[in-house]
Amino acid sequence: MKMWSGRFETAVEASFDRWQRSFPYDRRLLAYEIASSKAHAEALAQAGVLSGQELSAVIGALGRILSEGVPADTDATIEDVHHFVERGVVEQAGDVGMKLHTGRSRNELIATDLRLYTRDSIDHVHVRTSALIEALVEKAEAAGMAAMPAYTHAQRAEPVLAAHWLLAYAEMFLRDIDRLQSCRERLNECPLGSGAVAGTVVPVDRQAVARKLGFDGPTANSMDATSDRDFAIEFVQHASLLAGHLSRLAEDLILFSSNEYGFVHLPDAYCTGSSAMPQKKNPDALELLRAHAGRVLGNAVALATTVKALPLAYNKDLQETQMPLFDTVGRTLAVLDVATGCLRSLDIDVPRMRIAATRGGMNAFAAAAFLARRGVPFRKAHELIGRAVQLSLSKKCELEELSTEDLGRCEIDVPLDQFRSALSLDAVLALHDVEGGTAPARVAAAIANVRERLESMQEPVGGRS
Ligand code: ARG
Repeated sequence: MKMWSGRFETAVEASFDRWQRSFPYDRRLLAYEIASSKAHAEALAQAGVLSGQELSAVIGALGRILSEGVPADTDATIEDVHHFVERGVVEQAGDVGMKLHTGRSRNELIATDLRLYTRDSIDHVHVRTSALIEALVEKAEAAGMAAMPAYTHAQRAEPVLAAHWLLAYAEMFLRDIDRLQSCRERLNECPLGSGAVAGTVVPVDRQAVARKLGFDGPTANSMDATSDRDFAIEFVQHASLLAGHLSRLAEDLILFSSNEYGFVHLPDAYCTGSSAMPQKKNPDALELLRAHAGRVLGNAVALATTVKALPLAYNKDLQETQMPLFDTVGRTLAVLDVATGCLRSLDIDVPRMRIAATRGGMNAFAAAAFLARRGVPFRKAHELIGRAVQLSLSKKCELEELSTEDLGRCEIDVPLDQFRSALSLDAVLALHDVEGGTAPARVAAAIANVRERLESMQEPVGGRS
C-alpha cells in the first residue's frame, strides 16, 4: 500500500510510478533511516505519543529491519527507503507501526539521512586522503636527495628535490581534508522536528534527538532544513577539487613514466597491456584517475543546477540530488585507494632524474643570482647569462662547461672556479633556502611539518571502516 493513496481516485500510471521511485538507490541510506527513526520514536515516547511497550516494539522492529537488510524478494512497489522502513515496522510490530510517522515527514527524514550519509562519507574520505598523504610523505622521505627538473610552461625551469614535488601534492590534499572538515562542521545540524515544512506539531525534544544522532544541535529553520542541499553541493564541490588534484598527480605520473621522461617506473599491478602491441605497458589506473575529475565535476554541476531556482521549500526535484552525491562518494573512495596503492609501489629512477635535472641550462637562474650577489644588477645579470646560454647552446655544452674566454665574450668577468661551483646541482638546490623552498634542509623540515599537520588533524570517529 502507498503512504498517500487516500486522496486519489485512480491509480498512478504504472510506468510513471516505477520511474519516480528512489528505492533502487536510496536503499543505501537504510542505516541512517533506521537511526533517525529510532531517535524519532524515542522522542514520541517522551512526548507521550508512544507507550513504553509500544516504543520497545517499534525499536525492536527497527533493529530487525536493519539486521535483515533489503531481502532479494522485496516488493517492487516500495517507493523509497522511508516507505520500506515504515512498512517493515508495521509488518513486524503490527498497528503500532502506523504511529511511527506521527509528527514527522519524509521531507525532514531525507534531509536528515543525507546529512548523516554525507557526514560519514566525509570521515571515510578523510581517512583515505590521509593515507594518500602518508604515502606521499613516505615517498618524499625515501627520495632523499634525488633531484628532478621542475617545469613551468612544460619547459625545464629549475632543479628541485623530487621530495619537494611530492610534497606539493601533500599540501593540496591537506587543504582538501581541511575543506571537507569545515563542510562537516556546517552540516552537523539535525533537521528532525522540521516536519514537512513548518515544524512538527508534536512537542518533541529536538535537542535530545539531535544529540542522539551525533549532531551539534537542531537546525534553526524548518523551511531551510527541509529544502536545502547545500551541504551535498559543498561536499561534491570539495570532492571535485580533490579529484582535480588527483588528476594533476596522475598526469604528472603518466608523463614521467613515459620513455620520453623516464623519471618513474609504474608498478605492473596498476598497468595493463595492449591487445595489439606486445611491448605496451599502459598507465590505465592513472588515466582513469585523471578522468575521474570529469565525472565528479559533472556531478557538482548537476547538483548545483538541480537546486538552483527551486521555490521554497521541499520539491521532488530534490530527490535528484541523491545520485550525483552517491556516485561521487563511491568513486572518490575508490580512486583514493588506487592512487595510494599506485604511489606506494612507484619506483623513482633517481639517476635518470638527476641527468635531466643537470642538463639544459637549468642552473641559468642560479648563475644570474650568482652575478647579482657580486653586485651586477639583476636585469643586467639576466642579460649576460642569457648570452652565455646562447653560446652554450651553439657549443652544445652546459653553462658550467664554458671557459673563461667564453664567459669573457659574454662580458662575464668572474673567477671560473667560483662560477662553476655556484652552478653545481647541490649549490643550485641549496640556494633556495627559504621557507617553502627546495633547499634540502627546508624540504626535510617540510616533511616533518606535513607529518605534524597530518597527525594533528582530528582522526574521524566513524571513518575507519
Ligand atoms: N524520496 C524522496 C526524496 O528523496 C523523499 C521525500 C519525499 N517527500 C515527498 N513529499 N514526496 O526527496
